[in-house]
Amino acid sequence: MSSNMIVMGDVPGGGPARMDLAELLATRLLVQGNSGSGKSHLLRRLLEQSARMVQQAIIDPEGDFVSLAEKFGHLVIDGAECSEMALHAAGERMRMHRASVVLNLEGLDADQQMKWAAAFLGGMFEAPRDYWYPVLVVVDEAQLFAPAAAGEVSDEARRASLGAMTNLMCRGRKRGLAGIIATQRLAKLAKNVAAEASNFLMGRTFLDIDMARAADLLGMERRQAEAFRDLARAPLSPLVRP
Ligand SMILES: Nc1ncnc2c1ncn2[C@@H]1O[C@H](COP(=O)(O)OP(=O)(O)OP(=O)(O)O)[C@@H](O)[C@H]1O
Ligand SMILES: [Mg+2]
Repeated sequence: MSSNMIVMGDVPGGGPARMDLAELLATRLLVQGNSGSGKSHLLRRLLEQSARMVQQAIIDPEGDFVSLAEKFGHLVIDGAECSEMALHAAGERMRMHRASVVLNLEGLDADQQMKWAAAFLGGMFEAPRDYWYPVLVVVDEAQLFAPAAAGEVSDEARRASLGAMTNLMCRGRKRGLAGIIATQRLAKLAKNVAAEASNFLMGRTFLDIDMARAADLLGMERRQAEAFRDLARAPLSPLVRP
Protein backbone atom coordinates (compact mmCIF):
# COMPACT_ATOMS: atom_id res chain seq x y z
CA MET A 1 0.00 0.00 0.00
CA SER A 2 1.36 3.39 -0.95
CA SER A 3 2.28 5.63 1.98
CA ASN A 4 0.14 8.29 0.34
CA MET A 5 -3.03 6.53 1.43
CA ILE A 6 -4.94 7.96 4.36
CA VAL A 7 -7.62 5.96 6.17
CA MET A 8 -10.94 7.77 6.57
CA GLY A 9 -12.86 5.04 8.39
CA ASP A 10 -14.31 1.58 7.93
CA VAL A 11 -16.77 0.50 5.33
CA PRO A 12 -19.17 -1.86 7.16
CA GLY A 13 -18.16 -5.32 6.00
CA GLY A 14 -15.71 -3.86 3.51
CA GLY A 15 -12.48 -2.95 5.30
CA PRO A 16 -10.90 0.49 5.52
CA ALA A 17 -12.06 3.42 3.38
CA ARG A 18 -8.91 4.98 1.98
CA MET A 19 -8.18 8.23 0.24
CA ASP A 20 -5.19 8.83 -1.95
CA LEU A 21 -3.42 11.95 -0.69
CA ALA A 22 -1.46 12.45 -3.91
CA GLU A 23 -4.72 12.36 -5.86
CA LEU A 24 -6.32 14.79 -3.41
CA LEU A 25 -3.42 17.18 -3.90
CA ALA A 26 -3.70 16.97 -7.65
CA THR A 27 -7.44 17.65 -7.69
CA ARG A 28 -10.18 19.42 -5.72
CA LEU A 29 -12.81 17.98 -3.41
CA LEU A 30 -16.33 19.12 -2.59
CA VAL A 31 -18.24 17.75 0.41
CA GLN A 32 -21.97 18.31 0.74
CA GLY A 33 -24.49 17.26 3.38
CA ASN A 34 -27.22 18.65 5.61
CA SER A 35 -26.39 20.11 9.00
CA GLY A 36 -25.24 17.30 11.28
CA SER A 37 -24.44 14.92 8.44
CA GLY A 38 -20.77 14.89 9.46
CA LYS A 39 -18.97 17.25 7.08
CA SER A 40 -16.79 18.95 9.69
CA HIS A 41 -16.10 15.59 11.30
CA LEU A 42 -14.97 14.23 7.94
CA LEU A 43 -12.74 17.25 7.27
CA ARG A 44 -11.27 16.89 10.72
CA ARG A 45 -10.49 13.23 10.12
CA LEU A 46 -8.93 14.03 6.76
CA LEU A 47 -6.76 16.75 8.31
CA GLU A 48 -5.66 14.58 11.23
CA GLN A 49 -4.76 11.67 9.00
CA SER A 50 -2.71 13.81 6.65
CA ALA A 51 -1.29 16.36 9.11
CA ARG A 52 2.13 14.77 9.24
CA MET A 53 2.32 14.28 5.49
CA VAL A 54 1.32 17.63 4.02
CA GLN A 55 1.04 21.32 4.83
CA GLN A 56 -2.50 22.49 5.62
CA ALA A 57 -4.50 25.71 5.71
CA ILE A 58 -7.99 25.77 7.18
CA ILE A 59 -10.54 28.56 6.85
CA ASP A 60 -12.59 27.88 9.98
CA PRO A 61 -15.74 30.01 10.37
CA GLU A 62 -16.82 28.35 13.63
CA GLY A 63 -13.64 27.51 15.51
CA ASP A 64 -14.14 23.79 14.89
CA PHE A 65 -10.50 23.19 13.96
CA VAL A 66 -8.47 25.26 16.42
CA SER A 67 -7.70 22.20 18.54
CA LEU A 68 -5.55 20.84 15.71
CA ALA A 69 -2.90 23.09 17.22
CA GLU A 70 -2.58 20.94 20.35
CA LYS A 71 -1.96 17.65 18.61
CA PHE A 72 -0.34 18.67 15.36
CA GLY A 73 1.16 22.07 16.01
CA HIS A 74 -0.96 24.11 13.62
CA LEU A 75 -0.55 27.82 14.05
CA VAL A 76 -3.92 29.37 14.96
CA ILE A 77 -4.55 32.86 13.65
CA ASP A 78 -7.38 34.59 15.45
CA GLY A 79 -9.22 36.69 12.89
CA ALA A 80 -10.60 38.98 15.59
CA GLU A 81 -7.08 40.16 16.36
CA CYS A 82 -5.83 40.75 12.82
CA SER A 83 -6.11 43.36 10.14
CA GLU A 84 -6.83 42.45 6.55
CA MET A 85 -3.32 43.48 5.57
CA ALA A 86 -1.72 41.35 8.27
CA LEU A 87 -3.70 38.36 7.03
CA HIS A 88 -2.57 38.84 3.46
CA ALA A 89 1.02 38.84 4.69
CA ALA A 90 0.36 35.79 6.87
CA GLY A 91 -0.99 33.90 3.86
CA GLU A 92 2.18 34.57 1.95
CA ARG A 93 4.47 33.84 4.90
CA MET A 94 2.87 30.53 5.80
CA ARG A 95 3.87 29.30 2.34
CA MET A 96 7.44 30.45 2.76
CA HIS A 97 7.75 28.76 6.14
CA ARG A 98 5.60 25.79 5.13
CA ALA A 99 3.62 26.10 8.37
CA SER A 100 0.12 24.66 8.78
CA VAL A 101 -2.39 27.30 9.79
CA VAL A 102 -5.96 27.48 11.09
CA LEU A 103 -7.63 30.82 10.39
CA ASN A 104 -10.27 31.13 13.11
CA LEU A 105 -13.08 33.45 12.01
CA GLU A 106 -15.46 32.60 14.83
CA GLY A 107 -17.44 35.54 16.13
CA LEU A 108 -16.76 37.90 13.22
CA ASP A 109 -19.69 39.20 11.21
CA ALA A 110 -20.29 37.80 7.73
CA ASP A 111 -18.82 40.81 5.96
CA GLN A 112 -15.59 40.59 7.91
CA GLN A 113 -15.36 36.80 7.61
CA MET A 114 -15.46 37.17 3.83
CA LYS A 115 -12.88 39.95 3.65
CA TRP A 116 -10.54 38.20 6.08
CA ALA A 117 -10.73 34.87 4.25
CA ALA A 118 -10.15 36.66 0.95
CA ALA A 119 -7.05 38.43 2.31
CA PHE A 120 -5.52 35.22 3.67
CA LEU A 121 -6.32 33.15 0.57
CA GLY A 122 -5.05 36.01 -1.59
CA GLY A 123 -1.72 36.03 0.25
CA MET A 124 -1.35 32.27 -0.25
CA PHE A 125 -2.31 32.56 -3.88
CA GLU A 126 0.09 35.40 -4.61
CA ALA A 127 3.11 33.83 -2.91
CA PRO A 128 6.16 33.82 -5.21
CA ARG A 129 6.67 30.81 -7.42
CA ASP A 130 9.59 29.56 -5.31
CA TYR A 131 7.11 28.74 -2.57
CA TRP A 132 4.49 26.84 -4.50
CA TYR A 133 4.73 23.75 -2.32
CA PRO A 134 1.62 21.57 -1.98
CA VAL A 135 -0.94 22.73 0.60
CA LEU A 136 -4.35 21.28 1.43
CA VAL A 137 -6.67 24.28 1.67
CA VAL A 138 -9.82 23.37 3.57
CA VAL A 139 -12.80 25.76 3.59
CA ASP A 140 -15.71 24.68 5.80
CA GLU A 141 -19.11 26.32 5.17
CA ALA A 142 -17.90 27.32 1.73
CA GLN A 143 -21.27 28.86 0.83
CA LEU A 144 -20.41 31.69 3.24
CA PHE A 145 -17.34 32.57 1.19
CA ALA A 146 -18.66 31.79 -2.27
CA PRO A 147 -22.37 32.58 -2.13
CA ALA A 148 -24.47 31.94 -5.22
CA ALA A 149 -26.55 35.10 -4.67
CA ALA A 150 -26.02 38.55 -3.23
CA GLY A 151 -27.14 38.62 0.40
CA GLU A 152 -26.85 40.95 3.33
CA VAL A 153 -23.12 41.50 2.88
CA SER A 154 -21.44 44.39 1.07
CA ASP A 155 -20.59 44.09 -2.61
CA GLU A 156 -16.96 44.68 -1.76
CA ALA A 157 -16.77 41.73 0.65
CA ARG A 158 -18.65 39.46 -1.71
CA ARG A 159 -16.47 40.32 -4.68
CA ALA A 160 -13.23 39.80 -2.75
CA SER A 161 -14.29 36.52 -1.20
CA LEU A 162 -15.84 35.07 -4.34
CA GLY A 163 -12.74 36.05 -6.30
CA ALA A 164 -10.45 34.32 -3.80
CA MET A 165 -12.57 31.16 -3.78
CA THR A 166 -12.72 31.12 -7.56
CA ASN A 167 -8.94 31.50 -7.72
CA LEU A 168 -8.53 28.67 -5.22
CA MET A 169 -10.75 26.28 -7.12
CA CYS A 170 -9.95 27.34 -10.69
CA ARG A 171 -6.32 28.41 -10.63
CA GLY A 172 -4.95 27.08 -7.34
CA ARG A 173 -3.73 23.68 -8.47
CA LYS A 174 -0.83 25.02 -10.49
CA ARG A 175 0.30 26.96 -7.42
CA GLY A 176 0.19 23.87 -5.23
CA LEU A 177 -3.12 24.82 -3.57
CA ALA A 178 -5.49 21.86 -3.33
CA GLY A 179 -8.98 23.13 -2.46
CA ILE A 180 -11.25 21.04 -0.23
CA ILE A 181 -14.57 22.74 0.38
CA ALA A 182 -17.65 21.72 2.37
CA THR A 183 -21.18 23.07 2.28
CA GLN A 184 -24.63 22.39 3.73
CA ARG A 185 -26.39 23.86 0.77
CA LEU A 186 -25.08 23.16 -2.68
CA ALA A 187 -27.69 25.45 -4.20
CA LYS A 188 -26.30 28.34 -2.15
CA LEU A 189 -22.74 27.80 -3.35
CA ALA A 190 -21.59 29.74 -6.41
CA LYS A 191 -21.84 27.44 -9.40
CA ASN A 192 -18.43 28.20 -10.87
CA VAL A 193 -16.76 27.31 -7.56
CA ALA A 194 -18.64 24.01 -7.18
CA ALA A 195 -18.13 23.11 -10.82
CA GLU A 196 -14.34 23.08 -10.52
CA ALA A 197 -14.36 20.23 -8.00
CA SER A 198 -13.33 16.91 -9.45
CA ASN A 199 -14.09 14.72 -6.42
CA PHE A 200 -17.38 14.74 -4.55
CA LEU A 201 -18.55 13.35 -1.23
CA MET A 202 -22.30 13.68 -1.06
CA GLY A 203 -24.04 13.19 2.26
CA ARG A 204 -27.70 13.27 3.14
CA THR A 205 -29.63 16.19 1.71
CA PHE A 206 -33.34 16.99 1.42
CA LEU A 207 -34.16 20.09 -0.58
CA ASP A 208 -35.07 19.45 -4.19
CA ILE A 209 -32.71 22.14 -5.52
CA ASP A 210 -29.77 20.75 -3.53
CA MET A 211 -30.50 17.19 -4.61
CA ALA A 212 -30.73 18.32 -8.23
CA ARG A 213 -27.40 20.16 -8.05
CA ALA A 214 -25.75 17.14 -6.40
CA ALA A 215 -27.08 14.82 -9.10
CA ASP A 216 -25.89 17.24 -11.78
CA LEU A 217 -22.36 17.35 -10.38
CA LEU A 218 -22.17 13.56 -10.19
CA GLY A 219 -23.61 13.16 -13.67
CA MET A 220 -26.64 11.29 -12.36
CA GLU A 221 -30.10 11.37 -13.92
CA ARG A 222 -32.35 13.96 -12.29
CA ARG A 223 -34.81 11.32 -11.19
CA GLN A 224 -32.05 9.46 -9.34
CA ALA A 225 -31.47 12.56 -7.23
CA GLU A 226 -33.84 11.43 -4.50
CA ALA A 227 -31.21 8.89 -3.48
CA PHE A 228 -29.62 11.71 -1.48
CA ARG A 229 -32.73 11.98 0.67
CA ASP A 230 -32.72 8.28 1.39
CA LEU A 231 -29.10 7.88 2.43
CA ALA A 232 -28.75 6.02 5.71
CA ARG A 233 -28.91 8.18 8.80
CA ALA A 234 -25.50 7.22 10.12
CA PRO A 235 -23.01 10.06 9.73
CA LEU A 236 -20.30 9.51 7.16
CA SER A 237 -22.16 7.25 4.82
CA PRO A 238 -21.59 9.39 1.77
CA LEU A 239 -21.95 8.54 -1.87
CA VAL A 240 -18.42 8.56 -3.21
CA ARG A 241 -17.39 8.91 -6.80
CA PRO A 242 -13.91 9.44 -8.14
N1 LIG B 1 -18.23 9.30 11.45
C1 LIG B 1 -18.63 9.79 12.61
N2 LIG B 1 -18.46 9.08 13.73
C2 LIG B 1 -18.85 9.56 14.91
N3 LIG B 1 -19.45 10.75 15.10
C3 LIG B 1 -19.64 11.51 14.03
C4 LIG B 1 -19.24 11.07 12.73
N4 LIG B 1 -19.58 12.04 11.84
C5 LIG B 1 -20.14 13.01 12.57
N5 LIG B 1 -20.18 12.69 13.87
C6 LIG B 1 -20.75 13.53 14.93
O1 LIG B 1 -22.01 14.03 14.49
C7 LIG B 1 -22.17 15.39 14.87
C8 LIG B 1 -22.42 16.26 13.63
O2 LIG B 1 -21.28 16.21 12.78
P1 LIG B 1 -20.62 17.50 12.13
O3 LIG B 1 -20.51 18.60 13.11
O4 LIG B 1 -19.41 17.03 11.45
O5 LIG B 1 -21.75 17.86 11.08
P2 LIG B 1 -21.74 18.97 9.94
O6 LIG B 1 -22.18 18.28 8.69
O7 LIG B 1 -20.45 19.67 9.91
O8 LIG B 1 -22.90 19.93 10.41
P3 LIG B 1 -23.01 21.54 10.19
O9 LIG B 1 -23.35 21.71 8.74
O10 LIG B 1 -24.16 21.92 11.07
O11 LIG B 1 -21.72 22.15 10.57
C9 LIG B 1 -20.90 15.79 15.62
O12 LIG B 1 -21.14 15.71 16.99
C10 LIG B 1 -19.89 14.76 15.16
O13 LIG B 1 -18.90 14.55 16.14
MG1 LIG C 1 -19.87 21.63 10.28
